[in-house]
Amino acid sequence: MNTSVTGWQVFWWAVLPYLALATFVIGHIWRWRYDQFGWTSRSTELQEKRLLKWGSPVFHYAVFAAIAGHVIGILIPESWTKAIGISESTYRWFSAGAGTAAAVGIVIGVIILAARRIFITRVRATTSPVDWVALILLAIVIALGFAETVGVNLLGSGYNYRQSVSVWFRSLFTGNPNVAVIAHAPLLYQLHATAAWVIFAVWPFSRLVHAWSYPLWYLWRPFVVYRERAAARPNEPGTSGRRWRRIGVRY
Ligand code: HEM
Repeated sequence: MNTSVTGWQVFWWAVLPYLALATFVIGHIWRWRYDQFGWTSRSTELQEKRLLKWGSPVFHYAVFAAIAGHVIGILIPESWTKAIGISESTYRWFSAGAGTAAAVGIVIGVIILAARRIFITRVRATTSPVDWVALILLAIVIALGFAETVGVNLLGSGYNYRQSVSVWFRSLFTGNPNVAVIAHAPLLYQLHATAAWVIFAVWPFSRLVHAWSYPLWYLWRPFVVYRERAAARPNEPGTSGRRWRRIGVRY
């Protein structure tokens, strides 16, 4: 394998990822401390519900599946799955099948959500510049991920990214980045990873922070008690015992 790397490649595959990670961590601390009221998904449910009702669950459930896929494919070393008897070809077809299902769901979901944001005036009006940045970045990362999974793995000749992209990604967290493996990976995989770092750097400044605020406490919070109250017409001034009165005169 070609192990030579240039300074530019070190910058791109080691320095930039650490800068993005630092921005991700420090950005979140800053946002949490200074923008508690802005820490929100900026939901537009009140502006439009019909498309959101479909687009949002399709997108989010498929994203959860893709996150699971990234954990299996990127964080878990190939040697571990081999050790439990999963061959590369079994892994490839599993990842092509499950990955394609996730990718198709994400693409359908994001098309519904993006179309809603672009074409429904009420939703578009609430969209801030950083919302557009996040949406466009997501669209880029998703399109590239789709091309990898569907174009290369399912329909193409396949590429064992677990020997390059995954090795490099994990090496960043051991403090000894393996730049050579990613620097010689196919361009498609390089672009996807680069776009992902850009998203991570933008994340704390966008609505994506809502990902960390899933209201799990709903499961344990006390019930909200609603009690019925006999309907009573409010008293009009001058129609009940309490009448208009002159200032200074006792009741
Ligand atoms: C540096 C971080 C990331 C790396 C190294 C990475 C790597 C990969 C790889 C290698 C694949 C191909 C999987 C296959 O063919 O089986 C893939 C697919 C995909 N990625 Fe990423 N990815 C990263 C971050 C992200 C992020 C942040 C998103 C979305 C916001 C994303 C969205 C997708 C999608 C939608 C697919 C296709 C569906 C799937 O296979 O799960 N990726 N990614």
